[in-house]
Amino acid sequence: MWQLQPPMALLLLVAAGLQAADPPKAVVLLDPPWDRVLKDDNVTLRCQGPSSPGDSVTQWFYNGSLLSKQDPSYFIAAATVEDRGEYRCRTGLSSLSDPVHLSVHASWLLLQSHRWVYQEGESILLRCHSWKNIPVHNVMYLQDGKIKKFLHWNTDFYISEAAPSDSGSYACRGFIGTREKNITSERVSLLVQGPAVPPNPQLFLPWHQIAFCFMMGLLFAVDTGLYFCIQRERRSSVGALENHQINWSQGLQDK
Ligand SMILES: *[C@@H]1O[C@H](CO)[C@@H](O)[C@H](O)[C@H]1NC(C)=O
Ligand SMILES: *[C@@H]1O[C@H](CO)[C@@H](O)[C@H](O)[C@H]1NC(C)=O
Repeated sequence: MWQLQPPMALLLLVAAGLQAADPPKAVVLLDPPWDRVLKDDNVTLRCQGPSSPGDSVTQWFYNGSLLSKQDPSYFIAAATVEDRGEYRCRTGLSSLSDPVHLSVHASWLLLQSHRWVYQEGESILLRCHSWKNIPVHNVMYLQDGKIKKFLHWNTDFYISEAAPSDSGSYACRGFIGTREKNITSERVSLLVQGPAVPPNPQLFLPWHQIAFCFMMGLLFAVDTGLYFCIQRERRSSVGALENHQINWSQGLQDK
């Protein structure tokens, strides 16, 4: 089947070209997972992405500038307000990650969550974090200024199935430290979106997948065409040979 080799080689070239043109994006993960932290909190940023064996060099970017640090983890010990900003990373075989925006607040209490936009039905965890984890009691989680949850001791507030009515401006309040200071955190907006319209997968196919399908279809058509061409040629040449033999034997008989 040597006839199929050039198109197959072309296909492999196209596939290799597409792969080289489109490396996966790296991802910055936060540990602990909060993008709003208090002054003096410890934060570790981890860069997740493929790299070639033996090459663990990671590039870190802070507000667009390349940092000298090349470890897969970027550790911020006792964060200061100056550490706030946009972090991105890249590993050996990945492209630049989307940014993670870290904000650092100089206050007593801070409301934290994994993210601030949720889909209906997802679970939400809210955390009322205190500076240096100083104990807080009589904690309230407030939604648009109204008490949504009251807890004698500072524990996380968990909403198991988010509804659009859970959207709003959230804060937490509590009595902090031995001097029982009555503190209310800054407000944060939280959005719970209604059911997503199921996307038409065809509209969201990346262009290279479309190109790949097109190439496969084209190759199939070319191969099929070649196959029938060869079959027909072979049949007609066998037919011609048979005719020739008949003519020849007839010629012999005629003599
Ligand atoms: C940050 O880490 C240091 C050293 O491990 C620890 O002493 C400190 O309590 C940590 N800070 C917070 C806010 O947890
Ligand atoms: C705590 O402070 C808030 C306003 O910041 C106030 O509305 C509330 O009554 C205070 N609570 C107590 C027990 O003083």
